[in-house]
Amino acid sequence: MDENTAISSKPNSKEQRIDLTHISLRPLHLSDLDDVMVWTTDEKVPKFCTWELYTCEEDGINFIENIATKFVWCKAICLEDQAIGCISLTSYSEHDRCRNKSVELGYVIGSKYWGKGIGTQAVRLAVKAAFTEFPYLERVEALVDVDNVGSQRVLEKAGFQREGVLRKYLFIKGKTRDMVMFSVILTDPHV
Ligand SMILES: CC(C)(COP(=O)(O)OP(=O)(O)OC[C@H]1O[C@@H](n2cnc3c(N)ncnc32)[C@H](O)[C@@H]1OP(=O)(O)O)[C@@H](O)C(=O)NCCC(=O)NCCS
Repeated sequence: MDENTAISSKPNSKEQRIDLTHISLRPLHLSDLDDVMVWTTDEKVPKFCTWELYTCEEDGINFIENIATKFVWCKAICLEDQAIGCISLTSYSEHDRCRNKSVELGYVIGSKYWGKGIGTQAVRLAVKAAFTEFPYLERVEALVDVDNVGSQRVLEKAGFQREGVLRKYLFIKGKTRDMVMFSVILTDPHV
């Protein structure tokens, strides 16, 4: 199986499903560095993301100290307190005041843990936290590459609505990408 097939095909680890009550979100600490280095150096992970594979511990330290802290909200996705991924909310209101009622959701999980329901659970927890911790918010959105089938499925399972495809919307890793816009809004029944 080549790398592309491995990424786009459905993970086959249902038999190893974990107890999702063991999944939690908490702030990232420098003591998580070894765990952060696992997913940031995992070549399957950043294929559809804007960031490049990390190559040294300084990259991980920079992420924890300078990048994660710049998001509106950024948490480690933890399995029994081990940071196996990360989930964040970005605000664009600094540059566009018309967007101060919405944030964009992003998330990554180390490939060893894919296909166990963790992504869906983390997104559900993040949406709940977003509307609770930021009462002014009306919308959480997520932009997903049309080829990132797993991420689209996660959002659908977590109750996001697929709004449509934004053609040639983002230039990532040398390619102009068609992106699917998903959202959940405050008045959606499950929020
Ligand atoms: C996207 C990502 C977070 C998914 O996490 P996950 O924990 O594997 O997701 P879940 O286990 O909750 O899967 C939810 C559903 O998507 C399906 N799915 C997951 N990955 C899939 C894939 N690559 N292809 C097809 N379906 C996939 C699962 O089978 C499940 O569906 P089902 O319950 O109907 O069988 C993870 O693959 C990841 O970190 N990818 C790299 C970073 C990334 O792309 N981030 C998103 C940027 S927008």
